Amino acid sequence: MRKPQNHILVIFGASGDLTKRKLIPALADLHQQELLPENFAVLGLGRTDLSDQDFREKMSGGVKEFASKKDKVHNEFLSQLYYYSFNTKDGDEYEGFRKRLEALNQEVGADGNYIFYLATPPSMYPLVPRFLAEQGLNKSDDGFRRLIVEKPFGYDLKSAQELNCDLQKYFKEEQIYRIDHYLGKETVQNLLVTRFSNGIFEPLWNRNFIHHVEVTSSEDIGVGSRGGYYEGSGAMRDMVQNHLLLLTSLVAMEPPTLVNAESIRNEIVKVLQSLRPIPSDKVEDYVIRGQYTSSDMRGKDVKGYRQEEGVDPKSRTETFVAMKFFIDNWRWAGVPFYIRTGKMLPTRVTEIVIHFQPTPHHLFAEDKDILRQQNQLVIRIQPDEGLLMKFGMKVPGAGFRVQDVNMDFHYSELGDTYLPSAYERLLLDCMLGDPTLYSRGDAVEAAWKFIDPILKTWEENPCIKVHGYPAGTWGPEVSDDLIEGNMTWRYPCKNLSDGLYCEL
Ligand code: BG6
Repeated sequence: MRKPQNHILVIFGASGDLTKRKLIPALADLHQQELLPENFAVLGLGRTDLSDQDFREKMSGGVKEFASKKDKVHNEFLSQLYYYSFNTKDGDEYEGFRKRLEALNQEVGADGNYIFYLATPPSMYPLVPRFLAEQGLNKSDDGFRRLIVEKPFGYDLKSAQELNCDLQKYFKEEQIYRIDHYLGKETVQNLLVTRFSNGIFEPLWNRNFIHHVEVTSSEDIGVGSRGGYYEGSGAMRDMVQNHLLLLTSLVAMEPPTLVNAESIRNEIVKVLQSLRPIPSDKVEDYVIRGQYTSSDMRGKDVKGYRQEEGVDPKSRTETFVAMKFFIDNWRWAGVPFYIRTGKMLPTRVTEIVIHFQPTPHHLFAEDKDILRQQNQLVIRIQPDEGLLMKFGMKVPGAGFRVQDVNMDFHYSELGDTYLPSAYERLLLDCMLGDPTLYSRGDAVEAAWKFIDPILKTWEENPCIKVHGYPAGTWGPEVSDDLIEGNMTWRYPCKNLSDGLYCEL
């Protein structure tokens, strides 16, 4: 595997949770696999006053708890971590930071290559690039300069456009890496391989053979200590605008000409631009929002959303969204897409279900139940990652009774194949200068263009219900009505191949 060029990874917001839980453990895993460059350092930045040693100790805790390869914490890796404390909101203080960075560059021999990672509150996103540019740290003349931006990327269409403008004022688009960690998941990338490396699926992948598509991303935890952030976000901004629309795009996109950043991202953006807008008078019919209420979940009392820390006791923020929409293009004309996400649902599952058209004539359906005659392909993103094909088989014995059976593949069957974490993959890609798995500015804006009118309609029409649902259930019952006919959502278990045993 190709190793990245020597460089320094500068993390803004290094004393925060993301750095400790995700970034440093991912880097430690890369280190263990010897995928970091020869000369490498992490320079953590923040207002909290920490010495290099304090920072290393704090991060060592993160590695122990969250790295995948826990066998040993390498002191060698920890010795590559440095910290510089300053007020990142104050442009005047950036000169001191630049000097520290240049000195570190000399010390470790990083060849003047820098990656700046914004793991800060979003209010800092427009400021940091400006202050970096004032110090000439945006120019790639004496080494590469890349900027990684965490989500949320904007609060609505306007703010996302403004943010794109702000970033592009100081950095070129090819220097900007917008993270959607779902694209870093191995099984999400496998969606492309499943579709485009198997002759059997692609001919069926269109309106002629697919009846509808379902995407679920459920979590069995609440907002925890993130109530303050979540109040201003809700499930639509937190999960749908980015992760769920991205999964939908990968299911629906045309085959890219090549496996490279431009081809793949061109196809993703085309899907997002083809989403049929939901008119405001149809929002109530097409989009269901809900909020979890206190309940007993697996024998434990759990709080309702309104009782969570940092949440307004009268909050109308949605913790659940289910919606139906269409993609107006040649391939998908008339095929409904149903997506749903929520906190405090019965189990943590992300999966895509392709429902194929039923047979044109229901030869064996005694009760004319067409559900029985519909093949399903379940693409499981997490957990129990794998693929499941459901099809009908004859029940042995007299007559022609048909039973649904499962044909499944589980990633775990690949032996001791190591599944890298999303951050591991994405950090490495940025170090290698490959933006394929990062979101492009136009894609982010296209997704907002679809979501923005729904959020506006909710804002302007408080009479549109926020349905309460008891924690531990599959969300408001009305979300079942979204799917027409006698069909329902798939109610997944933790294990991919549900059957007689379903563990949540
Ligand atoms: C994040 C959201 O982007 O994704 C969280 O902000 C959510 O609210 C998380 O819990 C889910 O990610 P994953 O990888 O656990 O499915």
